[in-house]
Amino acid sequence: MKRIRVLNGPNLNLLGTREPDIYGHQTLTDIKKRLEEEAHAYNIELDFYQSNHEGDIIDRIHEAYRAGYDGIIINPGAFTHYSYAIRDAISSVNIPTIEVHLSNIHSREEFRSKSVIAPACIGQICGLGADGYSAALFVLHRRFKER
Ligand code: DQA
Repeated sequence: MKRIRVLNGPNLNLLGTREPDIYGHQTLTDIKKRLEEEAHAYNIELDFYQSNHEGDIIDRIHEAYRAGYDGIIINPGAFTHYSYAIRDAISSVNIPTIEVHLSNIHSREEFRSKSVIAPACIGQICGLGADGYSAALFVLHRRFKER
C-alpha cells in the first residue's frame, strides 16, 4: 500500500474561523476526513499533520524519508514565502511532493505570489480551496499507478 504524508503549516489549524472569505468555512478536520475517504478509495494510506513550527515540519519530512513514504502533499502556509529550510528538506529527501494552497496566492498581496518551496516540488496547486488537496492526491495516485 502506498503512503502519503500531508503536511499543513502555521495557522491552518484555525481554518473555519480564520478569514473565511479567503479560506472558506471548512475546518482542517473536515478537509482531513474527506481526503482520508478519497485516499481509502485509491487504496492509499494517509498521514495528516499540522504544525505551527517550522522545525516540526522539517522533522516530519525527514521522518517521511526514513519511513519510506511514497509522496508528500504540503500546504506550508506563510512558510511558503520564506522557508528555505523547508525547501531544502524537500530537496533532501527525494519524495515526490506537491505544494497546495487553498487561496489563489497569485491574486493576493504581492509577497504571497512567490513560493520558495515550489521549485523543490513536482508542482503547485492553488486557488481551488480544499479541492486542491484532492487534486494533489489524485495526481500522486496516478503517478503511483504508472510506475
Ligand atoms: C495559504 C496561503 C499563504 O499565503 C498563507 O500564509 C496561508 C495559507 C493557503 O492555503 O492559501 O497560511 O498557504
